[in-house]
Amino acid sequence: MDQRTYIMIKPDAVARGLVGRILARFEDTGLTFERLEYGVVTAEQAAANYAEHEGKPFYAGLISYITSGPVVKMVLSGPDAVVVCRKLMGATNPRDAAPGTIRGDFGLIMDANIVHGSDSPESAEREISIFF
Ligand code: RTP
Ligand code: MG
Repeated sequence: MDQRTYIMIKPDAVARGLVGRILARFEDTGLTFERLEYGVVTAEQAAANYAEHEGKPFYAGLISYITSGPVVKMVLSGPDAVVVCRKLMGATNPRDAAPGTIRGDFGLIMDANIVHGSDSPESAEREISIFF
């Protein structure tokens, strides 16, 4: 089923110069790039995007991290786009992410895990409306 998903290359990956290689992984899937934009996440956008985590011990760090520098925001569409991208990204903790996945290949720690991807089609639509 055709879906849209919201993907974001996080500040640590942009700062490390990984944008080109990460974009290539998403291009390789064959999904369609509907939107692609470089920018800084505002505090309001961060709070809205991570509302589900409010009150958790890692919340404050998560908000300061995601707003700490430029990111690359994108909307991808195509068959099962949400699951295809989550598989490509790998497990949330890079240490658990399989080699060959983006987090498995480029990540080292949970707090700076390279890339964000929507976890369901409903989350995707909500997140796209926050960022675009
Ligand atoms: P994301 O939303 O960033 O794509 O990551 P995810 O779905 O794989 O993971 P999620 O549960 O939504 O968590 C969002 C981000 O919060 C940080 N986190 N830290 N210390 C912890 O227990 C913990 N749990 C989550 C991670 O950086 C994760 O990407
Ligand atoms: Mg998530």
